[in-house]
Amino acid sequence: MKFFLDTADVDEIRQWNETGLLDGVTTNPSLILKSGRDIKEVLKEICDLVDGDVSGEVAATDYDTMLSEGRALAGIASNICIKLPITMDGVRACKTLVDEGFKTNMTLCFSAPQALLVAKAGATYVSPFIGRLDDSGIDGMELIEEVRAIYDNYDFDTKILAASIRSLNHVKDCAIAGADVATLPPSTIEKLVKHPLTDAGLAAFLADWEKTGQKI
Ligand code: G3P
Repeated sequence: MKFFLDTADVDEIRQWNETGLLDGVTTNPSLILKSGRDIKEVLKEICDLVDGDVSGEVAATDYDTMLSEGRALAGIASNICIKLPITMDGVRACKTLVDEGFKTNMTLCFSAPQALLVAKAGATYVSPFIGRLDDSGIDGMELIEEVRAIYDNYDFDTKILAASIRSLNHVKDCAIAGADVATLPPSTIEKLVKHPLTDAGLAAFLADWEKTGQKI
């Protein structure tokens, strides 16, 4: 499973990129607002840092403007992935942009039929929002499992990009369910390495090592 960072904070992206473990970045209008940056400038900076796909979201809701905004975003860098909402205009724009050779990420996916539709439109990624489904009382992970089964039944190339991830259990369950990508906020990705027994075990090893008086 690939790890994308769900942020438009360039400092966070730079820090995680240095680990060599970052496979891409996703942004959305709320994250652009949080960054306080101009969308084109910040996406350019992110694309220069990260080799993998970087999602930038259109703001338009009608087909024609979605196309022009999508093409403008794609003009920023070759690793831009045009993010579009799953609406009728969005799905139609996805098909057109994919036919033109662009990568697309179909966002705000809350049902398996939506995921089926965007796969038929040739989307590069579909983004099911796990946490927001959980918030509404529906098990978000079931959606990942359903979409995995549907895509495998028909050999769709669309990648499942699990989004709205809030916990380590989400990350683990996505990997078990076979999501292709999990996009993680910095607050979640930093928890991946942590376990109290690792810290306690390391402290004990270091204390014993000190007592040996050795050096390597
Ligand atoms: O990029 C979209 C997504 O990950 C949003 O997450 O926590 O706002 O539901 P959240």
